[in-house]
Amino acid sequence: MCGIVGYTGHRPAGPIVIEGLRRLEYRGYDSAGVALFDERGELYIARATGKLDALVQRVEGTLPPAVCGIGHTRWATHGEPNDANAHPQLDPLGRVAIVHNGIIENYDVLRKEVAERGGLFSSETDTEVVAHLLAEHVARGIDLLEALRLVVAGAQGAYSLVAVSVDEPGRIVAARVGNAGGIVIGHGDGEHLVASDLGALLPHTRRVSFLEPGEFVDVRRDAVAYLDAEGQPLEKAVEEQPFDAVATAKGGYKHFMLKEVHEQPVTVLDAMRGRYLLHPARVEMDGLPFTVEQVRALTRVVIVGMGTSMHAAMVGRHYIERFARIPAEVDNSAEFRYRYPVLDEHTLVISISQAGETVDTLAAMDEAKRAGCPQVTICNTPGAQTTRVADGTVFMRSGPEVAVASTKTMSASMLLLHGIALHLGRMRGTLDPEVEARQVTAALHLPVAIGEALEMAPHLQRIAGRYAQCEDFLFLGRGLGYPMALEGALKLKEVSYIHAEGYAAGEMKHGPIALIDESMPTVALAPRDEVFDKMRSNIQQVRARHGAVIAVVSKDEHALDDLANDLIELPAVDAALVPLVAVVPMQLLSYYIALVRGADVDQPRNLAKTVTVE
Ligand code: AGP
Repeated sequence: MCGIVGYTGHRPAGPIVIEGLRRLEYRGYDSAGVALFDERGELYIARATGKLDALVQRVEGTLPPAVCGIGHTRWATHGEPNDANAHPQLDPLGRVAIVHNGIIENYDVLRKEVAERGGLFSSETDTEVVAHLLAEHVARGIDLLEALRLVVAGAQGAYSLVAVSVDEPGRIVAARVGNAGGIVIGHGDGEHLVASDLGALLPHTRRVSFLEPGEFVDVRRDAVAYLDAEGQPLEKAVEEQPFDAVATAKGGYKHFMLKEVHEQPVTVLDAMRGRYLLHPARVEMDGLPFTVEQVRALTRVVIVGMGTSMHAAMVGRHYIERFARIPAEVDNSAEFRYRYPVLDEHTLVISISQAGETVDTLAAMDEAKRAGCPQVTICNTPGAQTTRVADGTVFMRSGPEVAVASTKTMSASMLLLHGIALHLGRMRGTLDPEVEARQVTAALHLPVAIGEALEMAPHLQRIAGRYAQCEDFLFLGRGLGYPMALEGALKLKEVSYIHAEGYAAGEMKHGPIALIDESMPTVALAPRDEVFDKMRSNIQQVRARHGAVIAVVSKDEHALDDLANDLIELPAVDAALVPLVAVVPMQLLSYYIALVRGADVDQPRNLAKTVTVE
């Protein structure tokens, strides 16, 4: 989704802003632009459709020696990706420039009003009208920040805005409205930065503050002032961030996705550190601020998330029911709030979001908050909005995940749900300490087992080569294999653009079986568990219709040797933890197929890492 960077200080702003945009590329975008003050205090504007390199080519040799500027990567919502719709957007006289993330829902009404006053528009965006309105207020002598406040008061939706004006070169103002897209302010010496996310600021400073919804900021070279929605001054703490910008480098891997897949043994270890304890073997999760009475009074757990996070939630449902013995359900965050959910103070809502800014998940959390539900969130991003809404946060500690396709954070989410389930089970008195101890010991073996799964990379690359030209895939699984089937299909779609369907295997004969022929391979998740025989029947049904089968089986499993076309043997782990090793071949298969097809693995078309629009 859209990325924002702004800089004011003593160093050349152009390269800083463009380099900041480079760090936001992973969010997904289709055009980019900058607005910089030249030496006369006039605005230099450059915009280009496509990747950032197109903008870099456009500005080559023409960047002014500016010390203040703003930049943007746009993920099109209103109007196709082209130069005219790229940001910054300007008022007709070019006195105000703005960049925007999110959606102005009543932009058409506002646009009509401006047009009736003679305003001429040069883009199809919902953004341009804000530049018009800001310029109208500024022309009447209203201070830029106050003008922004007035515009925001009339512009509905969830969005963030950053603006500059030729009347005050060196000043940047910004607003955050609702949950779509954060604004982070970076504090340096004699310089300040503004960005949509932390990653753009880290090369320059780790001292940051975050805008909450409804807040405004006035950023100058030597000072930063915060205001609330009423225009009253706000005190804000400056936080020191632990992330190191260098950690986002590819570290010798061809793609961030491959690097992040290979980080999973450490990801899981980091997620367990200080939480999975050995003497005695037990789990002590931080971030669960509930009393024993509250936990014992729980009647239900609802786990919400989107995409990969929702697939992790489906594994978590199994853990909560099995270890904590609380009825649990999973909902897609975007559906949750529109189905009039029945919620009360005895329903624990667990949300999962890597970014912690996913607007659908934030909306689901708001719904739960209104109903008085206790809430815990699983998140990878310190300071993210979800962590501010929930009563408690269990951090993934996965470090930055740069590839758009989530990999290591899914493993962290599944592991943490396992830990939360064990912790709640003990608090409720429903968990046999021996079961807890066995699960802890088994989980502590995971880094080794995931390492073994990663060693299958060459085998998976060979399988990928055999199937990379197929245009359709089916993924089937039962029980804990079902979310893996969904995730396998999602990963393949995302990074290789191959059409893939994930199904509960029992569902196959109720429709999807009609698709099967020799051109559509099936990836069957068939580890040795209580549903293995049923999975074998499904595989036989696929083979009977000439479909090729890639079977994912337990270590040393030979029951499918004559049936499957290709076998992927999983390392041995406790049955409850199979998803944490089974997800690895799902990720690698997709990665290698995408590689053969020459797809943009880290930044797949149309996708965004942080999804801040509904
Ligand atoms: C996963 O590969 C996708 N990029 C996507 O489905 C993602 O999991 C989803 O958008 C949720 O993101 P979040 O965890 O940051 O909320």
